[in-house]
Amino acid sequence: MTKKDNVEKIEEPKLTDLPGIGPAVASKLESAGICDLMSLAVTSPSQLADIAGVSTGVARKAIQAARKMLDLGFVDGLEYAKKREDVINIATGSKNLDELLGGRGIESRAVTEAFGAYGSGKTQLGLTLAVNVQLPVEKGGANGKAVFIDTEGTFKPSRVKQIAQNIGANPEKVLKNIFVARAFNSDHQILLLEKISDIINNGEPIKLLIIDSLTAHFRAEFTGRGQLADRQQKLNRYLHNLIRLAEQYNLAVYVTNQVMANPAMMFGDPTSPIGGHVLGHASTYRIYLRRGKKDSRVAKLIDSPNLPDNETIFFITSAGVRDE
Ligand code: GTP
Ligand code: MG
Repeated sequence: MTKKDNVEKIEEPKLTDLPGIGPAVASKLESAGICDLMSLAVTSPSQLADIAGVSTGVARKAIQAARKMLDLGFVDGLEYAKKREDVINIATGSKNLDELLGGRGIESRAVTEAFGAYGSGKTQLGLTLAVNVQLPVEKGGANGKAVFIDTEGTFKPSRVKQIAQNIGANPEKVLKNIFVARAFNSDHQILLLEKISDIINNGEPIKLLIIDSLTAHFRAEFTGRGQLADRQQKLNRYLHNLIRLAEQYNLAVYVTNQVMANPAMMFGDPTSPIGGHVLGHASTYRIYLRRGKKDSRVAKLIDSPNLPDNETIFFITSAGVRDE
């Protein structure tokens, strides 16, 4: 039997093949536009729970199952294992934060989004990662270089040198291994993404892409209510390109995002990330950063399909992100 015959014999799994998804839930999903495993696999647990009227626990299980089935459908087991094998990790500088993200910091083939208020540490985490990616693997790095797309003029060479110096790396060398570009508007930001392939194809071992901030230009350029749909569409396209880049070149992607006040919310924390569900879908790991007691920062993992929603504490020090 040829490989092709073999493939044709496998029927495509249906929504109702997933745990916790019966015909009634499936029809709710279908009317919300989630008709196949792929669209379900890229939904967040809380959104799926909302749409389907099931608990987030059930939603999370269904998403996990959908992802598993899809992976098996597209590549054989050996290929899948190999793909996972070359996932790289970059330590954040804080063991606590690394743990929150599954044990080894941020990972390649994934988008990690940090959102939070002014001064919550989003940029500082990005700068620390840009240094750490250059460390050898046994020190939590990836022996690689970083690209930093700066939309707000927050890339500070002197701060990078300080972080490098304080973790025992050569400041000049570290700085030389970070490719920085200032994006002046959202179109420019989109254009810069294409340039990254060029840099990599030129032989540069880029392992980390930082976009600080992912959303600021989009937010500033599409202001009125009537423009929201356009903005989301453009952002959506951008995010898909970002994910493709991460997959294609085995890159870790770290993006920052602002929060907006949500006046409709009376209890709890009245802030939510810009970008709404579009960004919620695209980010593999989403962490909410805020200031804590005594100069600490609190990081909370939000809505991860693979990890529990935990919270942890870290500090921003002269050596960048640290546990104390
Ligand atoms: P926005 O971009 O304004 O939304 O904020 P952000 O979340 O990017 O904040 P950022 O990462 O820039 O954090 C700024 C904070 O980091 C400052 O308020 C300081 O508390 C801390 N910080 C920045 N530089 C240093 C430094 O050199 N040493 C120490 N110890 N802390 C620093
Ligand atoms: Mg910042």
